[in-house]
Amino acid sequence: MELDQFQQDNLANWNDRVAVHAQSDGYGLQRYAADPNHISSVVAFDRPLMGDIAGLRVAHLQCHIGTDTISLARLGATVSGLDFSPKAIDVARGLAKSSGTPASFVVGNVYDAPAVFGATFDFVYTGVGAINWLADLDRWAAAVAGLLESGGRLYLREAHPQLWVFEEVNGQVVPTYDYFTPPDQPFTEDDQSTYTDGDTSTIVNTVTHDWNHSLPEVLNALVGSGMTVDRMEEHEGVDWKFVPSAVREGDQWFLPGDLRRQVPGMFSLWATKK
Ligand SMILES: C[S@@+](CC[C@H](N)C(=O)[O-])C[C@H]1O[C@@H](n2cnc3c(N)ncnc32)[C@H](O)[C@@H]1O
Repeated sequence: MELDQFQQDNLANWNDRVAVHAQSDGYGLQRYAADPNHISSVVAFDRPLMGDIAGLRVAHLQCHIGTDTISLARLGATVSGLDFSPKAIDVARGLAKSSGTPASFVVGNVYDAPAVFGATFDFVYTGVGAINWLADLDRWAAAVAGLLESGGRLYLREAHPQLWVFEEVNGQVVPTYDYFTPPDQPFTEDDQSTYTDGDTSTIVNTVTHDWNHSLPEVLNALVGSGMTVDRMEEHEGVDWKFVPSAVREGDQWFLPGDLRRQVPGMFSLWATKK
């Protein structure tokens, strides 16, 4: 796997996060073995939005430890997950076994997904903290288009680029970060924490780099790769506690006070390969 320095740092960090996430209540791996009908809150949110995937061949990009992959399989799809973290893929394969839900997994850079899978698909599912780890959305979109059969569909749900600008500073959620992040100027952070519960002392590779991608950047990358963007929607909520004062309702978190109606939390995008 060929990785630049930003990706090497990110991979080391994601490998370290796997053990913490696999033990966390948030990812709740044991729930999949305990209940054969259990699906992740992420896929439960997307289920009515993405349409019926039963019987489809689905590629799940940046699948992490496989909870959403298994959930997609439980909706009747034949699912293959891809992630560049071998440790995440080990846990995902274990989850498929322990949960009794068939799914296959490959290790690879998302930019190389068509070659790594060596197969084409009817549907690509990705998001919820995925594309922010990629510097080059044109390469990502080319990989998505390369995975799909003609008429195949992409469903993406991601944090909204406007939301990424905000941070909580002294109890106030305020614009803090750049909206525009060129490929050579990522957000570089040195942080031992992660977004789940649990002891993070085993996270020793603490430096990460990620990027904010505007909606036109996402759209233009997909159009440039030969996809038709069919529809987009914005959502108020987010799947994780993105600032300390975020307000929880069910499985989603919202900006506090008036900000909830002023700043979108996430967006969904539907696209079709021509
Ligand atoms: C937030 S997680 C995945 C989100 C997923 N919704 C979840 O929570 O299970 C981001 C994933 O992207 C993977 N990743 C980051 N950069 C990648 C790359 N260039 N190629 C493949 N996977 C990558 C990481 O290893 C990590 O598992």
